[in-house]
Amino acid sequence: MSVLITGGAGFIGRWVVKKFLSNNYDVVVIDNLSNGNSENLSEFRNIYRLKEIVIEDIRKKEIIENLFSKYNFSICIHLAAQINVQESLDFPEKAFENNVIGTYNILEAARKYNTKVILMGTCMVYDLADSNKSIDEMHPVKPASPYAGSKLAAEELALSYYYGLKVPIVILRPFNTYGPFQKTNMEGGVVSIFVNLKLKNEKLKIFGDGTQTRDLLYVEDCADFVFKASESDKCVGEIINAGTGEDISINDLAFLIVENKDQIEHVKHHHPQSEIMKLTCNSTKAKILMDWTAKTSLKEGILKLENWLIKQEGKK
Ligand SMILES: NC(=O)c1ccc[n+]([C@@H]2O[C@H](COP(=O)([O-])OP(=O)(O)OC[C@H]3O[C@@H](n4cnc5c(N)ncnc54)[C@H](O)[C@@H]3O)[C@@H](O)[C@H]2O)c1
Repeated sequence: MSVLITGGAGFIGRWVVKKFLSNNYDVVVIDNLSNGNSENLSEFRNIYRLKEIVIEDIRKKEIIENLFSKYNFSICIHLAAQINVQESLDFPEKAFENNVIGTYNILEAARKYNTKVILMGTCMVYDLADSNKSIDEMHPVKPASPYAGSKLAAEELALSYYYGLKVPIVILRPFNTYGPFQKTNMEGGVVSIFVNLKLKNEKLKIFGDGTQTRDLLYVEDCADFVFKASESDKCVGEIINAGTGEDISINDLAFLIVENKDQIEHVKHHHPQSEIMKLTCNSTKAKILMDWTAKTSLKEGILKLENWLIKQEGKK
């Protein structure tokens, strides 16, 4: 079995590559390194099943065609995307080209070579939920940024290839994911940014009043979710959420990480209009369809991330 992992040199991609290699798949990665790093894959270089790391762009249709023709993949895990919300507000075209045109190129090749596509969506497409309600896949969507809009457009396009052209498609919507290999700048995520600031003894900056909540998913649980979805026939044609089922406010997250209120400050939000104030995942569907649940507690995940960041600092 061979799998193409787009965005495989990125944060989640690195863990997905690891998961497929350890389950004896032949793996090919395509990544233009716009936000990834080939070093993320360095520990797999000697594994012969990692067939190729192609440093190229999914916006180039011919490159994608040639890759599918060369390897005849059974599965494509499509993770490559422009992921920065603020950048998508500043340059919407970038989100459209990477996330919609890039996905179109993958879908066209998948149609031609009969490849199953696992498309990585995001929880950022959802509308605000009531304070006591978790979000399941029937929850209304409201894309509040070109990032969310382009991801949703990619999902809809993929579903049209499923309904209209019989391409096997699975749409995954993981909630905010964190862990080792995530960037600690604005291209990263809140947990990595906060833990890194703690280690540097710098103040944690919270955008807005910090009451916005997140359901934080540890990255190995996320990779497990992607892998299980790719192996299950029941998931084809479905949209599936993944999260822990518990949310935490950004204020409480900061306090959990630094335990000292003096090390936390609130600053003006860059894009309050694109903020989702409450995100709690309902993963019942993932449990039913593929027996998936998140295994890692937030405390455990933060500790693993912190230990990894300390190790990275030691290597410098
Ligand atoms: N991190 C999260 O919290 C989260 C949550 C839900 C969904 N997602 C989705 O998961 C996927 C991976 O996210 P991530 O956090 O690992 O981000 P990431 O930026 O680390 O990974 C994306 C990878 O895609 C590559 N890429 C971007 N545009 C490309 C292009 N045109 N051609 C080839 N490669 C390209 C980047 O270089 C990067 O390595 C994305 O689709 C994202 O929308 C992420």
